[in-house]
Amino acid sequence: MDESPHAPNRPPHVDQPFSLPRYAAEEAARRVAAFRDVMATRRSCRFFSDEPVPRELIVACVDAANLAPSGANRQPWRFVIVDDAVLKHEIRRAAEEEERVSYEQRMPDEWLEALHPIGTDWRKPFLETAPYLVVVFRVDWEPRAGGTKLKSYYAPESCGIAAGLFLAACTYAGLATLTHTPSPMGFLSTILKRPTGEKPFLLIPVGYPAADAVVPRLVKRAAGDVMTFNVT
Ligand SMILES: Cc1cc2nc3c(=O)[nH]c(=O)nc-3n(C[C@H](O)[C@H](O)[C@H](O)COP(=O)(O)O)c2cc1C
Repeated sequence: MDESPHAPNRPPHVDQPFSLPRYAAEEAARRVAAFRDVMATRRSCRFFSDEPVPRELIVACVDAANLAPSGANRQPWRFVIVDDAVLKHEIRRAAEEEERVSYEQRMPDEWLEALHPIGTDWRKPFLETAPYLVVVFRVDWEPRAGGTKLKSYYAPESCGIAAGLFLAACTYAGLATLTHTPSPMGFLSTILKRPTGEKPFLLIPVGYPAADAVVPRLVKRAAGDVMTFNVT
C-alpha cells in the first residue's frame, strides 16, 4: 500500500454509529466484580497437564485478543500456535539452552534475588507438556509490493494489550497460561520461520493445569497502592 496521503488507494475516513450497553451503577459494579473474580483465578502456571484442549478454544481466545486497540489500527501482532510435538521439543531445547546461560552467566545477582520467591530455574519441561505454545510476534513492519515497508506504530504497547486480552480470554475459558520470555528469544524466529519484520514478543504455554500443579505464594500490592486520583 502506498503510504502517501495523496495515494489513490488511501483508505477513506468513514464514521459509523457507536454505543455501549448502559448498566445501572450497581449492575456495572457487579459485572466488574464478577470479571475481577475470574481474573483472580489467573496465575502463571508452570505445571501443565498434557490433556488435549480443542483447537477451536485457542482460536476463540486469539479472536478475542485480536480485538485489542493498536497504534493506527495496524494490529502489529501475530499469534503462532504450536501443537506439533517435534516443534515443541525444538523450542524447549533452544529455550533451555538460552535460559541455562542466562541463569548461570547473564543475570545479575539482583535479578536472581528477585526471581528467588518465584522458584524458577533454566529447566522448562512445560514447553513440551503444555498442549499449546502460543508465540506472540511483534510486527515492526510488513513488506509491501515494490520493496516498501508498512510500518507499525506503538507496536510493543499494542502487543502488550493484545497479549493481555489473550491471557484474559484463556483465563475466562478455564485455561492456564504462562507469560514466558526465554531471553534472548531470537531462536523462535528461526524455528518458526518468521519474516524479518517480526520479533518474538512472548511465549505463552496454554493448557489445563496438572492435577498436582502448584504456584508460588506471592504477595500482591493492593489496588489502592497502585493508583492515585489526581495529584497526591
Ligand atoms: C513480561 C513478563 C515476562 C515474564 N517472563 C517469565 C519467564 O520467562 N518465566 C517465568 O517462569 N515467568 C515469567 N513471567 C511470569 C511472572 O513471573 C509472574 O507473572 C509473576 O511472578 C506474578 O505471578 P502471577 O502471574 O502468578 O500472578 C513473566 C511475566 C511477564 C509479565
